[in-house]
Amino acid sequence: MKKSKTSFFCRNCGYESPKWMGKCPACNEWNAFIEEEASGLPGDSRYAALQSNEIPLSIDAIEADEKERIETKVLELDRVLGGGIVEGSAILVGGDPGIGKSTLLLQMLQKLAEQGRNVLYVSGEESARQIKLRGLRIGAGSKNLLILVETALDNILQHLQKVSPDVAVIDSVQTVYSSSLGSAPGSVGQVRETAGRLILFAKKTGISIFLVGHVTKDGAIAGPKVLEHMVDTVLYFEGDSGHAYRIVRGIKNRFGPSNEIGVFEMRDSGLTEVGNPSAFFLSDRPDSASGSAVVPSMEGTRPILVEIQALVSPSTLGMPRRTSIGVDSNRVSLLVAVLDRICGLHLGSHDIFLNVAGGIRVDEPAVDLGIVAAMASSFLNRPIFPGTVVFGEVGLTGEVRGIAQMLLRIREATRMGFTRCILPRALSQEISDSSGMELCRVGNLGELLENLF
Ligand code: TYD
Ligand code: MG
Repeated sequence: MKKSKTSFFCRNCGYESPKWMGKCPACNEWNAFIEEEASGLPGDSRYAALQSNEIPLSIDAIEADEKERIETKVLELDRVLGGGIVEGSAILVGGDPGIGKSTLLLQMLQKLAEQGRNVLYVSGEESARQIKLRGLRIGAGSKNLLILVETALDNILQHLQKVSPDVAVIDSVQTVYSSSLGSAPGSVGQVRETAGRLILFAKKTGISIFLVGHVTKDGAIAGPKVLEHMVDTVLYFEGDSGHAYRIVRGIKNRFGPSNEIGVFEMRDSGLTEVGNPSAFFLSDRPDSASGSAVVPSMEGTRPILVEIQALVSPSTLGMPRRTSIGVDSNRVSLLVAVLDRICGLHLGSHDIFLNVAGGIRVDEPAVDLGIVAAMASSFLNRPIFPGTVVFGEVGLTGEVRGIAQMLLRIREATRMGFTRCILPRALSQEISDSSGMELCRVGNLGELLENLF
């Protein structure tokens, strides 16, 4: 029997190589190569139907209007998508199993169906009955919402052609297989092949397609990373299934702002939008506890108030523990060193635990000052002055640097009832105190500590 040709694929990014390698040259992941049947043979006719006789055109002669967007009416989702679904676009929705991907997409399809749109939900994970039960729970029962339980790519494409819905959801891309490849569903080759053909189909027909992709920690199944560069928009679910909140973050968006977030709460009846995330993230905040600082952080185009908590306590270990959840641990190490050298707060022999309440991740430099304030407050065991928010970037010499969008942050803090704001002196000259907010401008960490308590 003729031996089928195999190649080695990186589980993380899909890089293909004729031989096994310890480290992937494309994404630098170690030990990620697995052997699979090689992708399509040369001269393969699978894509023949997609051939067209396009010729080069002058950009001046091409007609294009801003593509029509389909509003989902799930406002937080529309926000992340940049105002709605762009016709013919491919959107990848990634996240841990059980986090709410199927629930959100079914809710979205129901909303679209209520607006009279034709929508199709293709599932390879659940039976029609199970989907119906979920639908009953979240109030999805519209006539225009079609359900298809199928995993064979060719059949799915046929049905898509026949039904020609406005929007389709493929749940999940890891269960779909193409019979032209011998490898198992979920393998790198299959995921690339099926997603590739679905995306081409979307472009050709103008049907918008959502692809659901599970992220697995051990990477046993080809992750959505493989697909990120192929699709137009990438949304990831954050938060863990133990908590009620869910954050949908736009990682990439060809048709809108990226890094925008939508905040949801998982209830018995599905995902509910959280209209006021600042209130949500500050809801359990203790009054006048040391080690807690509030920072207005920009999430996409919107400021959200988050609480940074620090616990600094003398360590009994030779090597003190450093744990940070929700903020970059390298950044924290740097700030600890700056506090030590510049402010004389010697945290070196202390365990330091940092947490962003509510489980949101904040990656902006503007939270530096909040991290420093929370650590100093815990170390000195003095609560920060009530009603205070802080923001600013901290440099290696202890200087506080200016950041973008200061006025927006101050407005959000005012709206949430805060009365005092510690902000960088740099770039803040033109901001006035007219809003009733007391502004304390600081140029370095010494000035921060003077104003904090
Ligand atoms: P699901 O959408 O199936 O996750 P995914 O598709 O990302 O794997 O979400 C499943 C979880 O959500 C499950 O733990 C139950 C919970 N859930 C609710 O709390 N309320 C609901 O109304 C629904 C439908 C699910
Ligand atoms: Mg699911």
